[in-house]
Amino acid sequence: MATTFTPRVFSGIQPSGGLTLGNYLGAIKRFVDMQADDFETIYCMVDLHAITVWQDPADLQKNTRELCAGFIASGIDPEQSILINQSQVPEHTQLGWIFNTVARMGWLNRMTQFKDKAGKNRENVSVGLFAYPALMAADILLYHATHVPVGEDQKQHLELTRDIAAKFNHDYGVDFFPLTEPVIEGTATRVMSLRDGSKKMSKSDPSDMSRINMTDDADTIAQKIRKARTDPEALPSEAAGLADRAEARNLVNIYAALDGKTVDQVLAEVGGKQFSEFKPMLSELAVEKLSPISGEMARLMEHPDEIDKILARGSERAREIAAPILKRTYEIVGMVGASS
Ligand code: TYM
Repeated sequence: MATTFTPRVFSGIQPSGGLTLGNYLGAIKRFVDMQADDFETIYCMVDLHAITVWQDPADLQKNTRELCAGFIASGIDPEQSILINQSQVPEHTQLGWIFNTVARMGWLNRMTQFKDKAGKNRENVSVGLFAYPALMAADILLYHATHVPVGEDQKQHLELTRDIAAKFNHDYGVDFFPLTEPVIEGTATRVMSLRDGSKKMSKSDPSDMSRINMTDDADTIAQKIRKARTDPEALPSEAAGLADRAEARNLVNIYAALDGKTVDQVLAEVGGKQFSEFKPMLSELAVEKLSPISGEMARLMEHPDEIDKILARGSERAREIAAPILKRTYEIVGMVGASS
């Protein structure tokens, strides 16, 4: 009989720069929605993933704390959810090594994120960047997580996580790791650049005008939206009318996600309007939703020691779940000393 697993949510974000509106709508806002009494929720600042590309140590520290502040300011309750930074729970790396031996070179070679990040520079990127998805599988499976909310760009990594779980179970003849469900839902699973509707909004884009940062002030948000690329047509009244209009679709998707509405609901209100009218509405909504979060982030960042305490406490709670799962993994694999 198949094992049943406790419903448990895990997800992570890299502290490799500031948080963007893409991270907020595609991930954090949905992490908040998944906090519920019948789900255990674990949210992680994946600092070990971040260093697969160079990070200045002082920036990494600041970005990790700022990310934690962003989680809390957005509504993640550190009592209800477990908040951790990955390096403080050494079981992640321990299971990650086991999964390096399960994952196949061919699987990792197919990862589009690796191909994008390595570009033409394959010989010169870190080994960690290549092995990245095996550590990500370890993040998830270390807690036997059943659900992982992420944006669209992480879909392939989650399929790989399932492949790793299935191969481990098969090779060792066990039914130990769950086949985790990706949760990729809502209108903002892929927020696009404000300058180019074919590119994802990203913290690593050289142009700051391409993204809204969670720390941007009201004037900056309004300026970026005003300058966002659009087309000359008026907005349609139904979603089908956005099919070939990537930039227009992106702004409507952002509006819908911020307002908690469907695209059709938004278009029922704004259909027929020109962008000169819609953009100020979007700016006003974005500022209304984001400025309380950035204000609270700034307040929390004045007390870094409090943030560190939250992460230390989260790690203790996380290790209580992780340690027995790692121990059992070692036993299954045949490591001497694992059972003592
Ligand atoms: P990262 O740090 O690139 O992004 C964190 C989360 O934000 C989502 N996201 C977006 N969603 C919509 N539109 C966008 N433009 C956008 N940009 C980013 C991402 O899909 C992601 O959900 N490999 C992961 C981190 C990770 C992880 C994990 C995630 C490590 N271990 C375990 C889940 C479970 C990453 O690089 O995310």
